Amino acid sequence: PRTAGVRTAGALALAVALLAAGCTGGGAGGVKGTPGAAGLRDPYFPRLGNGGYDVGHYGLTLAYDPATGRLDGRAEITAKATQDLSAFNLDLAGLTVRGATVDGEPAAVSRAGNELTLRPADDIDEGAEFRAVVTYEGVPETVTDADGSEEGWLKTADGALAVGEPTGSMAWFPGNHHPSDKAAYDVTVTVPVGLKALSNGVMTSEKTTADGRTTSVWHSPEPMASYLATLAIGRYDTTSATALGKVPVLTAADPQVAAETAALRARVPEILKWQTENFGPYPFGAAGAIVERDGDVGYALETQSRPVFPLGSFDTPTLVHELAHQWYGDSVSPASWKDIWLNESFATYAEWLYAEDFEHTPAQKSFERAFADEDAWAFPPAEPPTAEDLFGAPVYQRGAMVLHKVRQAVGDDAFFEILAGWPAKYRHATATTEDFTRYVESVAGRDLGDLWDVWLYGDGKPAQP
Ligand code: ARG
Ligand code: ZN
Repeated sequence: PRTAGVRTAGALALAVALLAAGCTGGGAGGVKGTPGAAGLRDPYFPRLGNGGYDVGHYGLTLAYDPATGRLDGRAEITAKATQDLSAFNLDLAGLTVRGATVDGEPAAVSRAGNELTLRPADDIDEGAEFRAVVTYEGVPETVTDADGSEEGWLKTADGALAVGEPTGSMAWFPGNHHPSDKAAYDVTVTVPVGLKALSNGVMTSEKTTADGRTTSVWHSPEPMASYLATLAIGRYDTTSATALGKVPVLTAADPQVAAETAALRARVPEILKWQTENFGPYPFGAAGAIVERDGDVGYALETQSRPVFPLGSFDTPTLVHELAHQWYGDSVSPASWKDIWLNESFATYAEWLYAEDFEHTPAQKSFERAFADEDAWAFPPAEPPTAEDLFGAPVYQRGAMVLHKVRQAVGDDAFFEILAGWPAKYRHATATTEDFTRYVESVAGRDLGDLWDVWLYGDGKPAQP
């Protein structure tokens, strides 16, 4: 693929190709392509992600040395061009790029802020698959979010932890870091012997070599948004189990918190079984949980197949919440960060359902409690005013209230059909808020415009719960 024909054919063929492409000038390279956009115009992060291509696979080969804090990386990105490309961008925060190739040929590299631009020797044709390889190194950055939380690359007492919702993942590998471009991942990580490296999906090999380093390989075949990629390096106690008769479950905990978290970690299979009954088939080929000490990470995150928790958030409701995200957020991902309420509303509602089924607390009670919470009314869930608000109470509490109002409007049969039907319809894809309202109305068989106007988009607290 690409424009190899133009480059290797003789001068006559080159002239013909130029004419066919409608070009009147320009040298070899840059024949007809234009640079891919530096961002995808996300309402909160306009420069996040990049235009002109779709990533299908990330092959990350990483080596980390906790003693120096240094990461050595090689990212092999397989993508398909969605336009003729003379150049394209990747998002990368910090680190030093040593070099890049596209389809095996050196590419010119330039950087401005978090935008890394690769200019291949030849243009890439629209529709062509290409393979970009970036080698890089350095001490990765910790990113401070708009809401003050820290993510990206977090140093821990004996290693490091990578989590990144919404934008931290660009601190440890270059890529198309917008949730609308999901891809499969294979991650190979080398760490000093004695430490473990855990990531998403299934570990397919682990070997220790004579030079005292351990390399493990992690395979995630289902599409994953980059904010859901994780890497946990350090000392861990692990347990293995099976869920749903077939899904390997790997849980891990920092040794200092392993004993006190063992009982709840052992409940991952039974919670997934209850969720499968309500939400439909589990979307991934692996499952688990990683529990860290409190100082090591500031928030729990639904990292795909294997969510991460600080000890202080590792409780039943939060475990139910992060596992529910595997359906809502991880399999069906937000098309833009404006759609984040689609993730958090369902994950919060899963907690309400769990309380209803196992703790004698009807969802109506949880609704009333949320309704009484003044913080939940700061803004409409589908319209967080700024990036600082993406994980605010209205997104979670008022988002779950929207789902409860849907349940009241359509009745339990249709509501449970929606709970399982929504992640089935958008399995391993992305969806917008309008996709959701349209889907609910299609199941309900009627217009629910008033409900959306008041509960999803309306300012302030409605007079009637
Ligand atoms: N999605 C996570 C949860 O399960 C929260 C992520 C918070 N991120 C942040 N930057 N505040 O609720
Ligand atoms: Zn959540």
